[in-house]
Parts: sequence; structure tokens; C-alpha cells
Amino acid sequence: MSILPVPDIAMVVVAAGSGTRLGGDAPKAFVGIDSRSILRHALDGVFAARPMQVIVVAPSGFEGQAESDLLAAAGDRADLGRVVTGGGTRQESVAAGLAALWADVDTVLVHDAARALTPPAVIDAVAAAVDGASGVIPMLPVVDTLKKIDGEAIVAAVDRAELAAAQTPQGFPRRLLEAAYASARESGVEYTDDAALFAAAGHSVRRISGAERGFKITTQADLERAQHLLAASAPGRSLPRVGLGTDVHAFGGEGDLWLAGLEWPGEQALSGHSDGDAVAHAIVDALLGAAGLGDIGEHFGTAHPEYSGAHASVFLSRTREILAEHGFAIGNVSVQFQGNRPRFGPRRAEAQALLSGMLGAPVSVTATTTDGLGFAGRAEGISVTAVALVIPV
Ligand code: CTP
Ligand code: MG
Repeated sequence: MSILPVPDIAMVVVAAGSGTRLGGDAPKAFVGIDSRSILRHALDGVFAARPMQVIVVAPSGFEGQAESDLLAAAGDRADLGRVVTGGGTRQESVAAGLAALWADVDTVLVHDAARALTPPAVIDAVAAAVDGASGVIPMLPVVDTLKKIDGEAIVAAVDRAELAAAQTPQGFPRRLLEAAYASARESGVEYTDDAALFAAAGHSVRRISGAERGFKITTQADLERAQHLLAASAPGRSLPRVGLGTDVHAFGGEGDLWLAGLEWPGEQALSGHSDGDAVAHAIVDALLGAAGLGDIGEHFGTAHPEYSGAHASVFLSRTREILAEHGFAIGNVSVQFQGNRPRFGPRRAEAQALLSGMLGAPVSVTATTTDGLGFAGRAEGISVTAVALVIPV
């Protein structure tokens, strides 16, 4: 059996804040981005980087929850992880993490759990750039035009070329960082970040390039930004998706037949909660299914009386909207109906143009009889199958 070397590098992930500005119903680190918490995403990034000791600093009372996220993210590196309890300020929380460092560690990275989507490459780059004498922080250029203000007044312009925004993880030689933390504790000064505390002890700090994805989740808008980024990069997200829908309606409704968005005067009507347009309904299920957004019953069923008697245009335009709201464009739809009546050929072009217009994408409709077999063959009703392709945008 091979024994893995004890890492000489450690990461303190501070997650003990309350998240006042985010305003969730749990401390910020345990607020979900998708099915995973902010802390879990941060730790997924940490464990995708080179092996290092990982100390998670949790809010008091949430150590168990932090441990679960740690174990889930660590996989076979669980031995490298441990949870400690944080303090009342970020600085105290970092100090609690530093107290748990292994003896062999000579480089420490300090990281905000709130920077949940920080790429592992940034973590590795910071780790690689720390030398024995100076600290390293990832930074991004400032894009906004900055002004110095005094109340409502603008008192000076600030040259943004001289400024950059600091991110985490910030990396330091362990002994110098520990000594700097000891002096900060003695002086009672609270610093805005570890680099400021380290610099106040007389050491130099260098910068490397940060990443846009390393932004800090502070407000609801930041949380939504993280959700969009994750949704856009989810596995399979960029591939087109197919969906299948079928619908069957019996003849026997009131009035004229409605099918494929058209009224068919003189033809026997189909029965149903709406106008019985089985072509439209199969298309809706195919589209919703392709996008993974439920089905026609969920969005338009009897719990939604506003759709009672509604025609295809209402169903299809609302379905198109639902897909767009979830980031899907429609590629195309192909529909086939099986039935003896109506005779479809003479109105195919008209139906296709109408349905294509409603969806903003090509819709083709074919029709077949079933050689007298089954309910369609006995002219009791019709059966429709639709296939749809949708594209994440
Ligand atoms: N942090 C910590 N201990 C504290 C305060 C903050 O470990 N006593 C951590 C947070 O969990 C976060 C990071 O420091 O990962 C940056 O802090 P911030 O974004 O300000 O988080 P919160 O303090 O939780 O949020 P808020 O200021 O809105 O309450
Ligand atoms: Mg805070």
C-alpha cells in the first residue's frame, strides 16, 4: 500500500458568516445555489485543485452540516478535510482555521466560501505563486469609472488603471501569516482582508489574474448570477434536446372540429377540456418534455380553467413563452396524426404555416390511416404523435 505524502499546503475556507445581506433562511454558506449549497460548490472547486489540507470554518451550530458538504466534496480525499467553529468576525474565523493547520504545512491559502464558483485553476495558480517571503492575491481589473465622493458631491476622478479588485483565495507563507495574525490580535485592528493584515505586518503582496467566476455571492442578485452560470454550464446543457408527445381524443364534442390550429366546418368535433385539438396538445407535450419542464396537464390542465375551450394559438404561444423563460429556443416540430378524418392533404400547407407561425419554428404535419385497425381505424377518434427539438440558448 502506498502512503500519500502529507501536503505542505493548506486551504482555510471561511464559511462562518451569517449572510445578512443575502437574507436567506440559513447562514449564507448553506443557502442552495442549485441542488448544492454555496459551501458545497466552493469545496467542489477546492477539491478539484491540487491536494491540500482543507479546513472549513463553520458557524457555531452548523458544524455537522459543514461536515456533510465537506465529505461529499472530498470524495477519496476526506482525510485531508476538517471542520472547525468560526468566530464573530471574518478575522476571528480565519484565526480559528489557522489554529488547525498541520505541522507540515508551510503555505496557507485563505478562501471565502462565498466565492463559490472560483475555478480550481485560480486556486492552483495562487498556490504555485506563493514564495517564502510574500503573499499572492488574485485580482480583476476595475471596469467601472470611479469617482471620489463627499456626500452627494463628486470631488475627484479616480484613475481606474491604478486600481484592481481583490478576490480569494489569498496565499501566504504560513509562519509570516501566523505572526501577522498574532500582531493583529494584539493591536485589535480589523482588516478588510488577509492581504491587508499581512501587508500591515510589513510584508509584500503580489497579484496574479483572478477570474470573473470568482465573484463573491453577497446579495440575491449575486445568487441569481451564480444560478445562471451553473445552468449555462450544466452537463448536456449546450446540446439540443428532443421530446415526444402523444394525444388521443374521441370524436363526440360540440360544434365543428378544431385540429392543427384550423377549424374544419362540417367535420365531427373531438371532445376534451379545451377544443380537443390533439395535434396542438401533442406538440405542447413534446416541447415541454424536450425542455424537461413538465407536461400539458401541469401547465394547462383542469386546474387552469382559463384554458377551457382554448384553441391551439393560446396553448402554443404560452408554451413558446414557458420555454423562452427557461432559456430554450424551438428547433423544429414534426407531428403525425392517425385517423380516417379529416382528410388532411388539401389543408396541410395551411396548417403547417399556421402552427409554424405560432411557434416561430418549422412545424411539419403528416397524416395516415390505420387500415381500419384500432380506434382510429373505426373512426372513434384520432391519435397524434409529435417529436420536438429544442435548443438551450
Ligand atoms: N465569514 C466568516 N466568519 C465571520 C464573517 C464572515 O467565516 N464571522 C466568512 C463568510 O462566511 C464569507 C466570507 O467570510 O465566506 C466573506 O464574508 P461576507 O461575504 O461578508 O459574508 P457574510 O458576513 O456571511 O455576509 P454579510 O456580511 O452579508 O452578513
Ligand atoms: Mg460580512
